[in-house]
Amino acid sequence: MIDRPRLSALMEREGRAFAERHPRSAELFERARKSLLGGVPMNWMSKWPGAFPPFVAEARGGRFTCVDGHQYVDLCLGDTGAMTGHSPAPTVETIRRRSERGITFMLPTEDAIWVGEELARRFGLPFWQFTLTATDANRFAIRLARQVTRRPKVLVYNYCYHGTVDETFITLRDGVPGPRDGNLGPPVDPALTTRVVEWNDVDALDEALAHGDVAAVLTEPVMTNVGIVHPDPGYHATLRDLTRRHGTLLIIDETHTICAGPGGYTREAGLEPDLLVIGKPIAGGLPAGTYGFTAELAERVAREVELEHCDVGGIGGTLAGNALSLAAMRATLESVLTEDAYARTIPLAERWTQGVQEAIDSAALPWHVTRLGCRAEYLFGPTRPRNGAEAAAMDDFATQRFTHLYALNRGVLLTPFHNMALVAPQATEADIDRHTELFGEMAGELR
Ligand SMILES: Cc1ncc(COP(=O)(O)O)c(C=O)c1O
Repeated sequence: MIDRPRLSALMEREGRAFAERHPRSAELFERARKSLLGGVPMNWMSKWPGAFPPFVAEARGGRFTCVDGHQYVDLCLGDTGAMTGHSPAPTVETIRRRSERGITFMLPTEDAIWVGEELARRFGLPFWQFTLTATDANRFAIRLARQVTRRPKVLVYNYCYHGTVDETFITLRDGVPGPRDGNLGPPVDPALTTRVVEWNDVDALDEALAHGDVAAVLTEPVMTNVGIVHPDPGYHATLRDLTRRHGTLLIIDETHTICAGPGGYTREAGLEPDLLVIGKPIAGGLPAGTYGFTAELAERVAREVELEHCDVGGIGGTLAGNALSLAAMRATLESVLTEDAYARTIPLAERWTQGVQEAIDSAALPWHVTRLGCRAEYLFGPTRPRNGAEAAAMDDFATQRFTHLYALNRGVLLTPFHNMALVAPQATEADIDRHTELFGEMAGELR
């Protein structure tokens, strides 16, 4: 469908334009290559669509400025870490005040209680623990699930992503589970630790759980990391029913789906997980993650923990639950990630969805747009995928790099993984329309 030679020519043109517009970033990248592996502080930053990433000078709300002085509408928002908008004022002010009075103690502060109470109110689970990342929260949730159930395995969905959690880097190839492409140095074959099934496949789930060796199902309530893949109607009720029937715990990872509302998809859809994980935006961009569990599970966990050895149980971390992260979480939950914020961002994401779908239709491209709350995404296929394999089959890395670079050259940043756009509370209709307009031009050039 896409004319490949034409795509290459357009990509070359956009690559040249990007390099010409960013001489200072190019200079910094050359310098960075001498001290940073691949010229970037973290390997995923190599994935930006130009020959080098734009270096950031500053950011506020839904925009950032690069060192070459160009301002961008930010629809990446740190891949959800800055979903609050950059440097939200209440969080920044709290960070400033807290950091003058001590940052980390390995002692609790009162903020921890406020945050625990607020998380309980939002997500309906009474007990909470803190980490620095959602990855760690997932790792610890899995450990606790294995410990209390005395079962060795977890179950995840094909093409899920839950952070750098060894057990989750597994995919199905022709129905056979194996390490996911790109997985570096897996400790063991993930098929030893993990069962993997397709999202929305009830029979496969039932069959996998029937082995009786799965401690927990770890899942996003809507898949967001291979494009957005919604659950079929009734799928969550069946998932909950089957996990209960097979004695398997249910861990819901709300790290991205917090875009659905202040209590995530869990509250929107009335889900009843045993454990819930969230990280990324809950401290306004400061590192913080958390996981919560039911009263029943809390009791089972408490029975397992020995006082003398509680520091070597494989959960926790020296800086986890530090005073600064908790103060930032409190300010963010109290004043930033509020009902009001969603009342702004969700209609803007609806506007983005409608505009991009109209542009796709008028260019007659076989693509579609899908949305969850304030997150929306275009996929390179005509109809909604029902599972990870279908969504992955729609992926087109070359086209993706082109559409992203086209947007970047015209002042809009998209997440460098698939085609995800996230809307900040400070975004305006004009920001959304700016993307729609350039997307329409791009679609016209690609047709
Ligand atoms: C659903 C989900 N869970 C967990 C994580 C891990 O978050 P972090 O990299 O901040 O640990 C991610 C990261 O993209 C995610 O999408």
